[in-house]
Amino acid sequence: MIPFGIYVHVPFCASRCGYCDFNTYTASELSGDASSPDGWLAAARREIALAARTVGDRTVETVFVGGGTPSLLGAERLAAVMAAIRSEFRVAPDCEVSTESNPESTSPEFFAGLRAGGYTRVSLGMQSAARHVLAVLDRTHTPGRAVEAAREARAAGFGHVNLDLIYATPGETDDDLRRSADAVLEAGVDHVSAYALIVEDGTALARRVRRGELPAPDDDVAATRYELLDTRLRAAGMRWYEVSNWSVPGAECRHNLGYWRDGDWWGVGPGAHSHLAGRRWWNVKHPARWAAQLEAGGSPEAGSEQLTADEQHTERVMLRLRLAEGMTLDLLDDAGRAAAARAAGDGLLDDAALAAGRAVLTDRGRLLADRVVTDLLVAEEPAAPGAGRR
Ligand SMILES: C[S@@+](CC[C@H](N)C(=O)[O-])C[C@H]1O[C@@H](n2cnc3c(N)ncnc32)[C@H](O)[C@@H]1O
Ligand code: SF4
Repeated sequence: MIPFGIYVHVPFCASRCGYCDFNTYTASELSGDASSPDGWLAAARREIALAARTVGDRTVETVFVGGGTPSLLGAERLAAVMAAIRSEFRVAPDCEVSTESNPESTSPEFFAGLRAGGYTRVSLGMQSAARHVLAVLDRTHTPGRAVEAAREARAAGFGHVNLDLIYATPGETDDDLRRSADAVLEAGVDHVSAYALIVEDGTALARRVRRGELPAPDDDVAATRYELLDTRLRAAGMRWYEVSNWSVPGAECRHNLGYWRDGDWWGVGPGAHSHLAGRRWWNVKHPARWAAQLEAGGSPEAGSEQLTADEQHTERVMLRLRLAEGMTLDLLDDAGRAAAARAAGDGLLDDAALAAGRAVLTDRGRLLADRVVTDLLVAEEPAAPGAGRR
């Protein structure tokens, strides 16, 4: 059975971090009721009902309320989102229910309210334990607040807590990242997501780099920092299960695994993407337009595409190869399998896994994951028109 999840997008942030290009808005960028937290909640309820009518009889295995900054909604509205999902869908008894929070908009009462509302997992944006790195990233919380918030979440009964880190920020040193890793481990969380800083077009960070105020992040530095972090987390009993995600065994984020393993999901909210049986669609981006379309009784869909067999194949290889469980070689044709053997010869894929019929990245392969994916896909013969893929 293909797992089914629901993603809910909350498009509000107290301020915008200079590196972030997510579909999110500050209060001053929004006006009118439809864009208020209550207007958003009313529209989200409508889209949840639309989703239930459209997908029919599916059990919800995972829910992820992300953003933006969901914690700005407060625990009551977040609980109302989950209540709406429960009233419209059959929800698995062991459903994973996650939400993202910014450290500065949480409190012990907030976490208690989330627990009461049925949430099982919290993800907090920490980014760094170094004050000067947080300043470059425009983060408004102190270095210690994320760790404190993670402890508060655990004290409120959350068994699953994630901290997000960003590494290779200009000005960050190896020691800064070591301190960030130590702080994460001291917080006692069971999951860490860590991404190298990406300079996204159109962001304040991109403008600063273009003006020469900040150097662009360096790929070699990013690779060294990735290894440093991996060594630290591994020594503490965490293991990578996706190139940018580590957890203690059993604490992997099931919702994200659904994305990476070709699952189905409905994305509720402005700009949210959905995927059902090879069809993908995305909602209108602006919160007011999204809400207005739902209020008028319509769908908030802005566009869609049906993935061809070749596109599905490319996606499958790209996503599965980034997982520690890797990918069965049966997905590849003879030329692709020969490329996998060459990658193993170069130390990028694991020899023993290859002999057992799977492509699994080695430690060095993880640093060059994109290259390995490209090598496998480029090597394959083009599929005959209409022939489809394995
Ligand atoms: C929606 S945000 C997380 C929740 C919350 N809004 C926060 O910032 O604390 C998801 C995560 O994506 C990562 N992220 C966003 N933009 C990034 C970028 N340009 N480069 C690297 N990581 C980025 C950050 O680690 C961030 O915590
Ligand atoms: S990183 Fe998080 S808090 Fe910062 S602008 Fe993006 S979504 Fe908002």
